[in-house]
Amino acid sequence: MAVQRKDVELPDVEARRVLLKDKHTEFIANYGKSNNEFEYGVTEYLRMSGVYWGLTALSLLHELDRMNRDDVIAFVRSCYDDKTGSFSAAPNHDPHLLYTLSAVQILVLYDAMDECDKEKVVEYVVGLQQPDGSFIGDKWGEVDTRFSFCALATLSLLGKLDAIRIEDAVKFILSCMNFDGGFGSMPGSESHAGQIYCCVGALSIVRRLHHVNADMLGWWLAERQLPSGGLNGRPEKLPDVCYSWWVLSSLKIINRLHWIDKDKLGAFILACQDEETGGISDRPGDMVDPFHTLFGVAGLSLLGNKDLKPVNPVFCMPEESLEKLKIKPQLLTE
Ligand code: FPP
Ligand code: ZN
Repeated sequence: MAVQRKDVELPDVEARRVLLKDKHTEFIANYGKSNNEFEYGVTEYLRMSGVYWGLTALSLLHELDRMNRDDVIAFVRSCYDDKTGSFSAAPNHDPHLLYTLSAVQILVLYDAMDECDKEKVVEYVVGLQQPDGSFIGDKWGEVDTRFSFCALATLSLLGKLDAIRIEDAVKFILSCMNFDGGFGSMPGSESHAGQIYCCVGALSIVRRLHHVNADMLGWWLAERQLPSGGLNGRPEKLPDVCYSWWVLSSLKIINRLHWIDKDKLGAFILACQDEETGGISDRPGDMVDPFHTLFGVAGLSLLGNKDLKPVNPVFCMPEESLEKLKIKPQLLTE
């Protein structure tokens, strides 16, 4: 008997077979204006990342001009703590490495790195590395491979990778590698596509991808595709558009993108568009949000959609922004 896997049905809606570029542009551009709305209010704790998701989506859609550059930079500056060199999600919130990476990504998108004191930001990141090579996300001390990625990505964008102990950072990431070729959040934690993106991305930034078992990991990642075409993040989970990014980018980095059915994945992402409001949701028919809109759009870009700018699989930013900085993370070749 065939094994039943958790999955969803794709709706038969004509409008959801093409990328609704203008609708998504309106959705993102207006999201920032709805300051009084409930949704905007309850997402304050992650606002800096929200701004990065929205701006990156707009940039991939060739519509970055829809936002006011000066207003965005003023917001980023209002979240900067010049004593510690760190950024928070919103003014008067606690600083965190996650939001520091998002802030630096925003400044890179706008070619505005001079708006922050680079040396101070480097000092902040360096101070988060632990004796075992891992990174904590903030003063509360949680360790997670997400933070290893954030640290290495931030330093790479600042041109200061050599400021930390790279070999120790690599050793910690490799200690989170599992028997199935995947990676978890800490040593002994189960493989999870989001953490795999972080670990493979981090190894790519420091050019240490030879440690990855690309065939075994590629197999685990390709197994994430369900009959609907969508990808899940772990066995027995429902498909979710954000995994179009975490899984697909990892496959791209290890040169195994052709191991999944690209047309079916593309159709799944398009089926998650809301043809009335614009935006993309996790699964067909759910509420749209900027997070899934970015990862849907970025996934389609990796799949080769010509209406979109090419996206970099490691930084989830337009390739052109990284080219300007001459940053070239490692990608495996056959
Ligand atoms: C799933 O999270 C995703 C991850 C664990 C990866 C998060 C990656 C970063 C924070 C690095 C920065 C990212 C970019 C694109 C620059 P989840 O909590 O939704 O997992 P779940 O689906 O298991 O709930
Ligand atoms: Zn999701």
